[in-house]
Amino acid sequence: MSDNFLPTWLYNDENIFEFELDKYSKNYWHPLIFVGEIKPGEILERKFFNQSLFISCLENNSIAVFKNRCPHRGSKLCLPKTKLNPSKSIFCPYHGWTFDGYGKLKTLPLKDDFEIKIELGDYFLEEVNSLVNGPLIWINLSKKPISIDDQIELVAKKCTYEWQKNYSIFSEFSNTLNCNWKIAHDNTLDDYHVAVAHKDTLHKEQGPIKNYKYFFSEFCNVLVTPLSSEDNLYTFGLVPWTHLIIWPGKGILLISYLPENINHCTLEIKLASGSLSTKDLEIWKRSILKFLEEDKVIVESVHKSYMEKFKIGPPNKLEKRIIHWQKIYKKFLHASGISF
Ligand code: FES
Ligand SMILES: [Fe+2]
Repeated sequence: MSDNFLPTWLYNDENIFEFELDKYSKNYWHPLIFVGEIKPGEILERKFFNQSLFISCLENNSIAVFKNRCPHRGSKLCLPKTKLNPSKSIFCPYHGWTFDGYGKLKTLPLKDDFEIKIELGDYFLEEVNSLVNGPLIWINLSKKPISIDDQIELVAKKCTYEWQKNYSIFSEFSNTLNCNWKIAHDNTLDDYHVAVAHKDTLHKEQGPIKNYKYFFSEFCNVLVTPLSSEDNLYTFGLVPWTHLIIWPGKGILLISYLPENINHCTLEIKLASGSLSTKDLEIWKRSILKFLEEDKVIVESVHKSYMEKFKIGPPNKLEKRIIHWQKIYKKFLHASGISF
């Protein structure tokens, strides 16, 4: 495989886009929430793409994730203890079936008036593959994802202590970017632009280029930059479209670029704090928002060029994390019979 960038037509092709959602995305685990966002006995609703999901934390601290869809006739359900449903169970507002935190049918009106005999244990909410790794709850929407340990190998290795800590969410937001998701992902793996495009923001945190250190595993890469004689800042690039910036003693920034269509993606950000004061977190958040604004202008202009199928130039050494990820992506396409 050559070390050139991906051809631009891959950013502009409906079939490739479908393939990315149906196959590429499903091969990997996706971070859904931080463990610190949910308490034992609690059930939360979150969206993943257009899918509404329930995350249930059982009293023994184990986690289960369900699709928000009633197994009777497919209605959307209501969370327990909300305005629509003050009960302690997940409630279906269509015919009134209720479900417990294990997703099991608990009660239903007129139980004996069905064509067949209804046993409560026969009906469950549809469960989604989920697991806890480090401070995050991850999900996967297929039967055969790669192992999470392989997917994020370098994170657990390089940040063993930070990865085991508890974090609380400080801030989260999302924003639509007018570009193909791969342009945004490439850009966040691009260490060549930081000193120029983010000279007053991210560059100040990552420091001089001469101190950059790189590590690569099969599915993961990291740029390590020194913060002091003891601490480093870790900027991880993960499949399928995720980034983790771990700042020891401060917190974690999680960035994902969820594909909407070939021309748009949703930038999702979660900023979680380890032990930083609210004032310092505000400062960190402002600096993050600023560099993301700087990136938005860049990626949207690059997208326009890619849509015109122009011939892309050569990669710089500081763009090697892009090349590393693109090789993983290319290998997956080739293994699925898409060659170019
Ligand atoms: S669709 Fe939920 S109870 Fe009928
Ligand atoms: Fe950037």
